[in-house]
Amino acid sequence: GHDLWLRHAPVESGAAGDYRARLVQLVAPEATATQRVARDELLRGLGGLLGASPAVSNAPDRDGALILGTPASSPRIAKLGLDLDGLGAEGYLIRSLSVDGHTATVVAANSDVGALYGAFHLLRLLQTRQPIDALDLRTSPKVALRVLNHWDNLDRHVERGYAGQSIWDWHRLPDWLDPRYTDYARANASIGINGTVLNNVNANAQILTPAYLEKVEALAGVMRPYGIRVYLSARFSAPMEIGGLKTADPKDAAVQRWWRAKADEIYAKIPDFGGFLVKANSEGQPGPQDFGRSHADGANMLADAVAPHGGIVMWRAFVYSDEEPDDRAKQAYTEFVPHDGEFRDNVLVQVKNGAIDFQPREPFHPLFGAMPKTPLMMEFQITKEYLGFATHLVYLGPMWEEVLRADTYAKGEGSTVAKVVDGSLEADEPGRSRLSGMAGVANIGSDRDWSGSHFDQANWYAYGRLAWDPYLDARDIAAEWVRMTFSNDPAFVDPVVGMMMASHQAAVDYMTPLGLHHLMGRGHHYGPAPWVEGGPRADWTSVYFHRATKEGIGFDRTKTGSDAVSQYAPPVAEVFNDPARVPEDFLLWFHHRGWTDRVSSGRTLWDELVHRYSRGVAEVQEMRATWDGLADHVDPERHHQVARFLAIQQKEAQWWRDASIAYFQTFSGLPLPEGEAAPL
Ligand code: GCU
Repeated sequence: GHDLWLRHAPVESGAAGDYRARLVQLVAPEATATQRVARDELLRGLGGLLGASPAVSNAPDRDGALILGTPASSPRIAKLGLDLDGLGAEGYLIRSLSVDGHTATVVAANSDVGALYGAFHLLRLLQTRQPIDALDLRTSPKVALRVLNHWDNLDRHVERGYAGQSIWDWHRLPDWLDPRYTDYARANASIGINGTVLNNVNANAQILTPAYLEKVEALAGVMRPYGIRVYLSARFSAPMEIGGLKTADPKDAAVQRWWRAKADEIYAKIPDFGGFLVKANSEGQPGPQDFGRSHADGANMLADAVAPHGGIVMWRAFVYSDEEPDDRAKQAYTEFVPHDGEFRDNVLVQVKNGAIDFQPREPFHPLFGAMPKTPLMMEFQITKEYLGFATHLVYLGPMWEEVLRADTYAKGEGSTVAKVVDGSLEADEPGRSRLSGMAGVANIGSDRDWSGSHFDQANWYAYGRLAWDPYLDARDIAAEWVRMTFSNDPAFVDPVVGMMMASHQAAVDYMTPLGLHHLMGRGHHYGPAPWVEGGPRADWTSVYFHRATKEGIGFDRTKTGSDAVSQYAPPVAEVFNDPARVPEDFLLWFHHRGWTDRVSSGRTLWDELVHRYSRGVAEVQEMRATWDGLADHVDPERHHQVARFLAIQQKEAQWWRDASIAYFQTFSGLPLPEGEAAPL
């Protein structure tokens, strides 16, 4: 599993012949590190796929040349006079052309990194067995910052990480550069990821000390040829903890000086340093509010420190206060919307996909569309904190697609979340900066398979593809990944893609159907614990979220409840507010409903709840049967692990169902519908 989707197993003989004829010769520059990386990737990839690497040449002199580069790096590309306008710094084109009377495949871009992305794309075409004889492709990323967030601590423990330890071996850095760092950079570049935040948002200020910055510099050196910039999570109180100051007040001149000097120090070592990610005034983290200042004050102070160097600040909107709110879902909106327009041009506000916390399914966060003057960065969680960790097979593509395609109605119909994230919806907003971004909380660790399971690699892959283009189809991405990772045989691809596409709904069904949320065990967030009550604060309990009583269940967020619905644009608020129109998947997110109320299937709410729990278990059972039937298509090692993990998932889906039904039955007092097995 170490190769991820960059396996270059030999192509079957028929198809290989066609490819070989088109890729006889490689004409590619090698003057810069990035150029050498692109060339090496092609030689390595094609060598694996076709059994022999193409011959390297300075000029195309026969049929079947692959010509790669930019007008600046390749005289041959310059001479072709291709239309590279509109591709930007990272886009590329791939075309089948006749060059000097010979058939040729041309991969051209405006920058070396663009050409590298094009090289990976060409390899992907072969890996997925696409024809390459009449290519005419142009693509450029729709989102500017495509960033992984590592929640990695300096002691190598990964918060919410289920794939071993942190891959950053701080102890041996900077002098020992684990080859894994290079493989990491290759994998990320292959899907267009161009930034990585190395350390946890619950940050340790030590990362900003000279000893650690040297290590960061070494990692930045590995990433640079692959077009990946390094960022750091900054602890807001760092000036006090490592700077000897008495305050971290963003309006204090000494504090501002300290951060400017720190930024200068970092950029002296890492000229292309990306900037800072900050979690402030959330879950006990320090922040500007500790000094009576706003999120904008805090973000702007850091933004001013990195601005002279071209750096940016990603300021997180995942906040909840020390006081217990009437509804935690409302807090980010309440705190951030009043500051729209106050943030510097080099600040993005980073917003989780939903307002609670990476639940199996959440309605889109009401901040999307509500801060037109501020670039909002999407934060997805690739690591499956609330979705069965690494053993449950849950492909997140459909969940992310659902959020990206959700309509905020902020500027009328069609104002999708994707358009907020890529900046197109609010591009004309006066004074709005042109930044756009997407962050994914990484699922990467020291495990041999990187992600803790083979199928979790698909979530890393899908995240990168959607960050490049948030309009892509989750099913297409799954198919690409399956073909690259396992096999191109339709007898394998079709059922496995089907299994992946059904897996998210299955997990929602067996964990938190009908809009229920946060019913996991406290702290670890793994198995079912809908009964959790008491403890330090009301919103750290499950009962706070499900609100089950003898009469019914669900969180009333309607206009007569917590009124969280009113944080959405009126057409959305109206729908969410109405139990007859709210999508049933969010029914109990927004409504408290009676146990015997009818839902669209004609069943009572209680019967529907039980039905969905059982449906989730049945789906996992089916996934298992599907996989068991595919042993001939996969090497025994990978097949065995996936099979065993599916067995765990089935056992635990049953556990979720039984525990949840038994618990909720103590409120409903109703019998199980006919044919439903009693909880074990
Ligand atoms: C969740 C998660 C924490 C994490 C936090 C965050 O609450 O459980 O571990 O620190 O999100 O996103 O900041």
